Amino acid sequence: MSEKPKHQLFATRIGVIAATVGSAVGLGNIWRFPYEAGVHGGGAFLAIYIVFILILGVPVLCAEFALGRSTHRNVLGCFRQLKPAQPFWRIIGIIGVTSGIMILSFYSVIAGWTLEYFFVSLRGDIAGNSTDELHSMFGAFTTGMRPVIWTIVFLLINYCVIVRGVQKGVERASNVLTPALMVLLAVFCVNSLMMPGAADGLSFLFKPDFSRITPSVVIGAMGQAFFSLSLGLGCMLTYASYFPDRTPLVRSAAVTVGLDVFTAIMAGVLIFPAVFTYGFSPQEGPTLVFEVLPAIFTQVSGGWFWAPLFFFMLFLASLTSTISMSEIGIAWLTQDRGMSRGKACMLVIAIAMVCGVACALSFSYWAGLRLPVIGEFNIFNFFDYTSSNVLLPLGGMLISVFAGWMLDREVLRRQLTTPRNAFSSLASVIAFLLRYVSPVMILVIFIANL
Ligand code: TRP
Repeated sequence: MSEKPKHQLFATRIGVIAATVGSAVGLGNIWRFPYEAGVHGGGAFLAIYIVFILILGVPVLCAEFALGRSTHRNVLGCFRQLKPAQPFWRIIGIIGVTSGIMILSFYSVIAGWTLEYFFVSLRGDIAGNSTDELHSMFGAFTTGMRPVIWTIVFLLINYCVIVRGVQKGVERASNVLTPALMVLLAVFCVNSLMMPGAADGLSFLFKPDFSRITPSVVIGAMGQAFFSLSLGLGCMLTYASYFPDRTPLVRSAAVTVGLDVFTAIMAGVLIFPAVFTYGFSPQEGPTLVFEVLPAIFTQVSGGWFWAPLFFFMLFLASLTSTISMSEIGIAWLTQDRGMSRGKACMLVIAIAMVCGVACALSFSYWAGLRLPVIGEFNIFNFFDYTSSNVLLPLGGMLISVFAGWMLDREVLRRQLTTPRNAFSSLASVIAFLLRYVSPVMILVIFIANL
């Protein structure tokens, strides 16, 4: 029913889910969601985020799945194969490969923070500190050189996994990891719910104050919807090129979206009660979660055990996400540019390392550095903002236009309905959203933001 794949596929059905959920669930849910929700007023942000997940996220995810699985090609090769005479569409691939590396760069900085906190808490160094002491400890860490080293170390670990190929390693690792992370999160949610600030935290997160909705809240929520589902730059397309034909696409998309949103909400329930209990400002930004988590762990009994475990899981969850980001470029370099896997991995990681170090320095030596073209942002914020809020939605818009209007309708329908199951009936709704709703909506939001 689709092109014959020239490369290895995911072996098992559970492996497919594990890999896509592994890509989707990561720092985007546990670090980025609470910080973005905090900056953008909580409840209103959550409400818009969920709306975007449903009407943009689900259809674009299905589109990426269908495009990747029907061609079994990478993000550039896919569009070349489907529309050889229209090179315009390769722009999706170009956006994908570039912003994949951009996201890999700043994401590795945060993943490096999880490594630092894993070791610090393992040594018992966060126990017994007051919130103020934890705050200065974190400040001293981010303004020193260690984040740079951790960024490099994290990228090297990522390299060691990806040179071996995604299929086996990722399948196995994510099978255990994702459920374990969810259980751990659930345990800590219960703990947060018993804090004195729980009521304030929950009402901040769940009570939408719609008067606070501004264009920047809307664009932030849209960016977060794309980011947390790994959408818009062909990451899921690349993974779907490794799906066997018997994978039910709509059902896999539903499972991925469900677990992704659930994890983000759990992270919110974990963080915000603590924010209000310990007197943090929800508006703090990218550093929020790393200030709040240690504060939680110093308060719980057995914190010496839970803290390193939690940070280690967070590190692994980041790794299953960065593996998927790296794969976008690697699949292209190996399939279309004839590069060996080893060389391709080296190239992608080397570029990410240079950019990642620059991002890490944005919290210290280059904190005040403003490049002329990027205005008010430092390098980290520029990478984070441009990729998530501009490039991902732009890529998502092009993907939905392509899947809705350019792709043979029959191919789309067949991809979404074979093998048949209860979810197949959603195929026509998805096709409708892809044609008339998602692209228009993204465009309107872009224009409103100008
Ligand atoms: N979705 C992941 C997270 O929530 C991050 C991620 C992985 C990603 N691959 C991506 C984001 C591709 C954008 C594009 O942590």
